[in-house]
Amino acid sequence: MLAPARDRYAMYNANKLKIGLFGSNCSSGRAVTKVPERWSGNWPDNLRLARMADEAGIDFLLPIGRWKGYGGDTDYQGETLETITWASGLLASTRRITIFGTVHAPLFNPVIAAKEMVTADHIGEGRFGLNIVVGWNEGEFEMFGVAQREHEARYDYAQEWIDAITLIWSDREDFDFQGKYFNMKGIRGKPKPYGGSRPLMMNAGSSPTGQAFAIRNCDAFFIQASRTSLAETAQRVSGVQALARQGGREIGVYTVGVVTCRATRKEAEDYYHYSVVEHADWSAVDGILALKDISPQTVPMEEYVTKRRQYAQGMGGLPIVGDPDFVASQLADLSNAGLTGIGISLVNYIEELPFFCQEVLPRLARMGVREASGA
Ligand SMILES: Cc1cc2nc3c(=O)[nH]c(=O)nc-3n(C[C@H](O)[C@H](O)[C@H](O)COP(=O)(O)O)c2cc1C
Repeated sequence: MLAPARDRYAMYNANKLKIGLFGSNCSSGRAVTKVPERWSGNWPDNLRLARMADEAGIDFLLPIGRWKGYGGDTDYQGETLETITWASGLLASTRRITIFGTVHAPLFNPVIAAKEMVTADHIGEGRFGLNIVVGWNEGEFEMFGVAQREHEARYDYAQEWIDAITLIWSDREDFDFQGKYFNMKGIRGKPKPYGGSRPLMMNAGSSPTGQAFAIRNCDAFFIQASRTSLAETAQRVSGVQALARQGGREIGVYTVGVVTCRATRKEAEDYYHYSVVEHADWSAVDGILALKDISPQTVPMEEYVTKRRQYAQGMGGLPIVGDPDFVASQLADLSNAGLTGIGISLVNYIEELPFFCQEVLPRLARMGVREASGA
């Protein structure tokens, strides 16, 4: 079976801590906020952002596969760009950054998906990556007229889906695929992925089944970092890596963070409070929580209040709020805890990225977790 080339796995550089941007294909990104400068998510802004990130040495862009907005005052993530076509456009316009497509296995026929991804991979000359998702949002599936499977069966299905896709990407030609979910005859898929290796694959399942799926199939796995204990984060990372090694595999472990970086700690804290506390889109937050069956009726009040705050402040990602020294030290700590990388989000990616790149990346290079040039 094809493996990703070493260069792909390293995302074509030697940065010890990979840094990516998460969620820019969606309106409002990952900040459930009403502030007027919230992220548009439109194409011109995505294109400018991708070029800026590519030039500045950011390692990857990770989009969200979202089909239906969450409503609320802002219709949070109501406008989203489909991720494989989004990635294709951006790969054509960049030179070195890895760009993922986030693909719902139950919604894409594997023969079509395999070819779409190969096309994106050729456009990017090997820089396309796949985030496999099985879905969780009932309303999205209803919109497609597709029944959501029971939780365990979702990953059983995804296994067949990815097995079919990796076979299509391999040297096999004119083969049949007969499984529990697919019965496909005379499969032919040409061209193959760029350069004789396959795209990087990632998954972010939080259940034991989702984690086992990632460990079996993927090169990268996203976990939730502890908000309170670095030791706990380190333990989660080494736990995943130990399980992977038991299965004879290596896996990169990543997390997601929400960065507010300003010249002073006070400025950062003030902006954080202004954007995602005072001006949070609470009606959207409540809608998201309801979809996940989190309400005062289903969980203890204290947990509900905590979840409500955490979802407003970056949908559960780790908040990193402070001046460049503080932000860099937090990121270096995550690297030292064993994480391979982090997908960060910003309230307005274009306005905030230059300061982050100018101030935080060189500090990380001096701390030994990034290459000096940032490229
Ligand atoms: C970094 C990250 C990215 C994700 N991207 C998406 C996405 O784009 N679309 C989606 O429906 N789910 C997404 N998810 C949800 C996961 O794929 C997964 O369904 C969720 O964590 C629940 O885990 P489980 O499937 O193991 O129960 C993402 C989660 C994380 C942490």
